Amino acid sequence: MKVTVVGAGAVGASCAEYIAIKNFASEVVLVDIKEGFAEGKAMDLMQTASLNGFDTKITGTTGDYSKTAGSDICVITSGIARKPGMSRDELLGINAGIVKSVAASLVEQSPNTIIIVVSNPMDTMTYLVHKATGLPKNRIIGMGGALDSARFKYRLAEALEAPISDVDGMVIGGHSDKGMVPLTRLATRNSVPVSEFLSEERLEQVKQDTKVGGATLTGLLGTSAWYAPGAAVSGLVQAIACDQKKIFPCSTLLEGEYGLSDLCIGVPVVLGKNGIEKIVEINLSEEEKAALTSSAEAVKNNNTALTF
Ligand code: NAI
Repeated sequence: MKVTVVGAGAVGASCAEYIAIKNFASEVVLVDIKEGFAEGKAMDLMQTASLNGFDTKITGTTGDYSKTAGSDICVITSGIARKPGMSRDELLGINAGIVKSVAASLVEQSPNTIIIVVSNPMDTMTYLVHKATGLPKNRIIGMGGALDSARFKYRLAEALEAPISDVDGMVIGGHSDKGMVPLTRLATRNSVPVSEFLSEERLEQVKQDTKVGGATLTGLLGTSAWYAPGAAVSGLVQAIACDQKKIFPCSTLLEGEYGLSDLCIGVPVVLGKNGIEKIVEINLSEEEKAALTSSAEAVKNNNTALTF
């Protein structure tokens, strides 16, 4: 199993580290545009191998895509990240050009690859990769919902004063502060609806804290987060590499599912060796449907800025 990660910055390196530590991939290739940067990150990570007990071989290259040839999975994290006060949408202009050219280089070397898009604004970048590469829809996956759901579970566990492993919950919709749809109605603590334990007001607070999860960290860190994003990407990569058939909310091209079409947005999908093996349509309440539809409108509005 060969995995390429483009962008050896905060998220790319964290993702490579988690993949390596989980020890399921034979090789991870890091690519960056900054001279020597990916090589340096790869060397530093390899020097953790004997300490962390993994055999995954990590290499780095400054833009030589021939080194990525034959990758089973490629992750795109290249581009700029937001600074405090910025929205993810403000990154569109710069990141679209980067993501489009990176995707073309990856597909040229690995025509059978599955691509995971991380760069923001992620739903629009996923749609761009779909339009620009023409790869089948099951092989283009946007990562956002897995991270947002992890943040939702963190906030739920905090409110419930329960261990995170006892809590389940999912965030669908666009990967943006306004577009996320945390499904509080379906969230559970040991199979019991969380509404049994939390007031409506407290649940609304959990929802709001989840939606601004990224912005809260950007405010604290001065740049966007990397541990949870890297871990979330590695979870998707592992589900595909190990054919786990796990369900994650991922951004995928919709063609009528949830009454939406011609956009990529986060909905639950089954991930296995073929990438997205099934889009899962759950019964949403009228309120949840309305929130998803309004989120989709915002993503579509962003998409109009793209050229293919
Ligand atoms: P970073 O600035 O630490 O790393 C980005 C890297 O991309 C840099 O090392 C840069 O040199 C490289 N790069 C730029 N242009 C390139 C090109 N043409 N080819 C190869 N490499 C290139 O940024 P960070 O924090 O790693 O974030 C990366 C992206 O991921 C951002 O767009 C950020 O908004 C997004 N992100 C998305 C998340 C999600 O849930 N979808 C979560 C966190 C970040």
